[in-house]
Order: sequence, then structure tokens, then C-alpha cells
Amino acid sequence: MSKQPRIAVLFVCLGNICRSPLAEGIFREVVRQAGAAAMFDVDSAGTGAWHVGSPPDPRSIAVAARYGIDISGQRARRIEAHDFNRFDLLLGMDRSNVDALSSMAPAPRAGRAHLFGTFATGRAFEVPDPYYDGADGFERVYRMVRDASEKLAEKLMRVSDPASGHASSIT
Ligand code: 4NP
Repeated sequence: MSKQPRIAVLFVCLGNICRSPLAEGIFREVVRQAGAAAMFDVDSAGTGAWHVGSPPDPRSIAVAARYGIDISGQRARRIEAHDFNRFDLLLGMDRSNVDALSSMAPAPRAGRAHLFGTFATGRAFEVPDPYYDGADGFERVYRMVRDASEKLAEKLMRVSDPASGHASSIT
């Protein structure tokens, strides 16, 4: 049996403490439940550097924990140029994240940056910054990211299936 190449996915937000750590944790859990964890390399990063080295926001840790997902071991990092080589997909939570990604992408890699919700679901949507919201904002973000992660996993498992006829057309 030939080994399929892994698909490397980087979730990106502004601080890498609220949304993208949740997306990383949720997507890992979704593909684990699908028995497809070995198909993916998953990570997250922020476009800003304020929180580098910090664990996720306690509100993100709490909402993930409520759904049985432990993201407390994650540490924030800033996106770096090499990420455009390392990852097949760089998925921004909102349009400003995608604009920041696009402005730093080397031209041949620009097609790897997308709006997460839209890329995953085919419907235009952003995952809004919940930093100044209460716990209900984080619950909303959890649900949006959960739904988009399930659709993203289905989509990527489909395109990477050699029987689908469109392997390697991820972006
Ligand atoms: P995130 O949320 O981009 O989802 O991690 C934010 C976290 C921190 C800040 C902004 C957004 N901040 O301005 O410090």
C-alpha cells in the first residue's frame, strides 16, 4: 500500500490565544474521532507577537474542556515565513488574518492562505474575535469552529482519497 502524504494545516488568528488554539484542538479531535489523525499535521499561530509563549486564554481552555478537549498544553507562537513552506493550508479565522497572511506570503505560496470558515464550508463566514466578549462569545466561537472543522475534515479526507480523482488539488 502506498503511503499518502500528510496534509499540513495551520490555523491562524491574531493572538494565537483564543480562536486558533481552539481550532487546532477541535480539528485534532475531529480527525482523531474519524480515525484519520495520521493523515494530518496540525498547528496554530498568530499574526501578532503579544502573547508568544503564553497558554491559550482561560476562556478558550474552559470551553474546550467542556467538550472534552484539552488545549492547555498549547503555547502561542507567531507565524513565520517558513510556515508557507511547511503547511499546505494556512487558514485565517477572519479576513484581517487572511490579509496579513497574504501580505507576507511568498508569491508562489499565496494560494495556500484562505479564510477558514469559507474554505471549509463554501459559505462566506468569519470566526469573530471573542477577546472582549464573555463566556458566551467563546461558546459561539466553539460551535462555529466545530462545525467548520467537521466540514474541513470531510473535505480534506475526500480530496486526499486516491479514489476521488482529485488528489493534490487541496488549495
Ligand atoms: P485571538 O484573540 O486572535 O483569537 O487569539 C485575540 C487575543 C489577543 C488580542 C487580540 C485578539 N490582543 O489584542 O491582545
